[in-house]
Amino acid sequence: MPSPGDRHALVLGATGFVGRHLVLALGHAGVRVSTANRRRASFGRLARWPAEHGHDEAPADLRVDLTQPLLPAGKLDDVTEVYNCAGAYRFGMQADEARRANVDSVRSVVVFAARLPRLRRLVHVSGYRVGGQDPRPWSEERRRETYRALGAYEASKVEADAVYRFEAERLGVPWSVVNPASVIGDSVTGEAGQYLGLASTLRDLWRGGLPAVPGNARTFELGEPGAPTVVLPGLPVNADTWAPVVTALGEARAADLPGLGMSEGDRDDWPSWLAALVTKTGARHLVGHSIGAAAAVEAAAAHPDAVERLTLVAPFFLQARSASVPRLPARWYLGRVSARALAERLPRAEVTVIPDAGHHPRLTHPEEVAHAVAGDAPPRVREPFSPSGRSARSRG
Ligand SMILES: NC(=O)c1ccc[n+]([C@@H]2O[C@H](COP(=O)([O-])OP(=O)(O)OC[C@H]3O[C@@H](n4cnc5c(N)ncnc54)[C@H](OP(=O)(O)O)[C@@H]3O)[C@@H](O)[C@H]2O)c1
Repeated sequence: MPSPGDRHALVLGATGFVGRHLVLALGHAGVRVSTANRRRASFGRLARWPAEHGHDEAPADLRVDLTQPLLPAGKLDDVTEVYNCAGAYRFGMQADEARRANVDSVRSVVVFAARLPRLRRLVHVSGYRVGGQDPRPWSEERRRETYRALGAYEASKVEADAVYRFEAERLGVPWSVVNPASVIGDSVTGEAGQYLGLASTLRDLWRGGLPAVPGNARTFELGEPGAPTVVLPGLPVNADTWAPVVTALGEARAADLPGLGMSEGDRDDWPSWLAALVTKTGARHLVGHSIGAAAAVEAAAAHPDAVERLTLVAPFFLQARSASVPRLPARWYLGRVSARALAERLPRAEVTVIPDAGHHPRLTHPEEVAHAVAGDAPPRVREPFSPSGRSARSRG
């Protein structure tokens, strides 16, 4: 190692919890430090931090967003070491977002480091329990299984660890990897500063900024909080079973109606709950499945200004008759009408037929359902139409 005075460290993720402690430690050791930050505001917080901790020299500030291509190495030709402490985590993170922030970013950091002529070491702060695996490139199947088993953040850290080791070897970059367990504060001073999970929930509640669906004691919701597309599952399932469709849609969530799935309450709570859903939580596109289709229609009829789009998946009134359900005239008609005739009677509606799909198409055909809900499936109407074994989408 050169003497501290000859060293120039570049720290990525320097504004974060681990990064700012590293900036301080390097500063105390007499190493010149540059930091790569995506926002001026976050650097503003970092710039004051070393001084507040007994080191007067603020690090240099470079603007870098790790989801974009990294800056050319020109300005940083004398960098001797790169520390990657950047990473993204939040509850409800989707796989695409996690991969962009944690996997693609690691790949571009290694490529960037390989171009630094004086680089002596690249250090990557990886994840907990993710090391020691075969670093060869992942198959699509392995990726799908790992993300399904571990969830987006955890899986992206596992994949990033493998990508880092593989790319660094491939490009001949001298590398080290750190796999910390949970880090919650300074072991000497006891200073903490990271507020994840319950702490951030309490902070949001305190500030009145927690998006919530008013219901009874408990409403079960998954997906992206505040997303405009909301799936209302039917009987006898819960929102969990919609997770693959919600993930494929991206900006979407699924919420169990009061009294259904894992939410408390009962049918009497639906009007006030639905009113709150569409007027207070940003729900604009309601996707009702089975009996959830009734709730979606109810909400759209009661709040036409708030609901912009309605999608009905296997609506219960298009199913084959059952002795236990009263034979309402509308239900009688809808149970017999052909898809083509229905589409003609509802000129602003699109009817999508998913061949061979039963009453639970999200389980058997999740991708097709996601395309139909997103509106990018070609609308198809087939004759003869049989109410069971078909799913329908209406738009208006
Ligand atoms: N803390 C722990 O307990 C723990 C345990 C094991 C592993 N780790 C890993 O250690 C690393 C650092 O953790 P931490 O707790 O210090 O995280 P943190 O406090 O959340 O900091 C994350 C840093 O990454 C930056 N960042 C995120 N996305 C970026 C992007 N697109 N472009 C540029 N910068 C980006 C953030 O910048 P902004 O300020 O602009 O948001 C911030 O500086 C992460 O990879 C984490 O997974 C942490």
